[in-house]
Amino acid sequence: MFDEKGEQYLDCINNVAHVGHCHPEVVKAALKQMELLNTNSRFLHDNIVEYAKRLSATLPEKLSVCYFTNSGAYHGHLSSLIEISPYKFRKGKDVKKEFVHVAPVPDTYRGKYREDHADPASAYADEVKKIIEEAHNSGRKIAAFIAESMQSCGGQIIPPAGYFQKVAEYVHGAGGVFIADEVQVGFGRVGTHFWSFQMHGKDFVPDIITMGKPMGNGHPMACVVTTKEIAEAFSSSGMEYFNTFGGNPVSCAVGLAVLDIIENEDLQGNATRVGNYLTELLNKQKAKHTLIGDIRGIGLFIGIDLVKDPQKRTPATAEAQHVIYKMKEKRVLLSADGPHRNVLKIKPPMCFTEEDAKFMVDQLDGILTVLEEALGAKTESVISETTPCKIEMPMEAHLELLNDSITDSKENPSRKRNGVCTDKHSRLSKRLKT
Ligand SMILES: Cc1ncc(COP(=O)(O)O)c(C=O)c1O
Repeated sequence: MFDEKGEQYLDCINNVAHVGHCHPEVVKAALKQMELLNTNSRFLHDNIVEYAKRLSATLPEKLSVCYFTNSGAYHGHLSSLIEISPYKFRKGKDVKKEFVHVAPVPDTYRGKYREDHADPASAYADEVKKIIEEAHNSGRKIAAFIAESMQSCGGQIIPPAGYFQKVAEYVHGAGGVFIADEVQVGFGRVGTHFWSFQMHGKDFVPDIITMGKPMGNGHPMACVVTTKEIAEAFSSSGMEYFNTFGGNPVSCAVGLAVLDIIENEDLQGNATRVGNYLTELLNKQKAKHTLIGDIRGIGLFIGIDLVKDPQKRTPATAEAQHVIYKMKEKRVLLSADGPHRNVLKIKPPMCFTEEDAKFMVDQLDGILTVLEEALGAKTESVISETTPCKIEMPMEAHLELLNDSITDSKENPSRKRNGVCTDKHSRLSKRLKT
């Protein structure tokens, strides 16, 4: 991809540009419809009907009613959604409303029940059961359970097999509905299936799914799909769903082009092939670098969990930030997420190639090698001194200094740090460079 200055980057994070940035077929479809009509006419346009049909064909039969929107309703714009998203409310005043219950993330690497547990799926699902019982004991009812089918912002977590089936059983038993968020992980990203929830087996079908991002390849297009029963319950409340921009004819033309491209270019097959190859390369890196604690993922949805200590699995947050900025200098775009922001996220456009994967891993290898060498040196120098400035220093700043120290020593020995450095930081900076 190119930035606004025409510089080329390898995009490893953009799950919106699903079929590739500026795909000519997407551009053509948008342009063609733009020349005809780009507005809601209050009557059903053929494009929206056609799109709904094509979308339904990818889903289990019971998910047949589509509500088109222009956003996946980010947990951040509406107070009602901030309230149900720990990812958001924990970044604010961290006040959890009494009607919200947060289940532990089914993370078998760093979570409560790990890979050595005999049945982590049941153990994590039992946590949900317990929450439901506690809610009932305090006189509450359960309306819904919402989760991403694979947690992206949560740190590229793939729930253990059988977890969702059990959770759905408990939630349904309590009269609630199961909402699967497919905004980041839908549209064939996992390769083996079109929707991530389908990986969990045919016996698991959510009651509501939300989708967005890749749907319009960057064009604002999103949708909520649900069952007839739930849609009827909603309409019988007297509430009419209306959205000015949701499902406009251009968006639907774009969406149809995206569906065609996924199929015609076998992008699901590509996700499997390239995803497997990339995972293989990354596992070799894991054997080489102590900073890599875990590689997990499926298709083109992969996480690299960076740790300070492989035994304790201590999240290497500052190191992850350092890596993503260094990767950007190498013209590779990555991001870090998860509760500790230490998991490097890989979710590239689905046309990502084996060559791209190799290039990305080679750059990562180089950066981790230099970083690990420097961290070894840093540990020695820091341990040897006990000045107050070292204790006050946030880890991010350590890494910033380390970053400069690496750049200085490798690329320009005479370069001085510019800007932010106070005197005491300069002292530390000097120490780190020795
Ligand atoms: C998992 C997940 N759900 C929902 C959303 C909301 O989508 P939108 O930004 O289109 O409102 C996002 C957006 O980043 C997301 O990552």
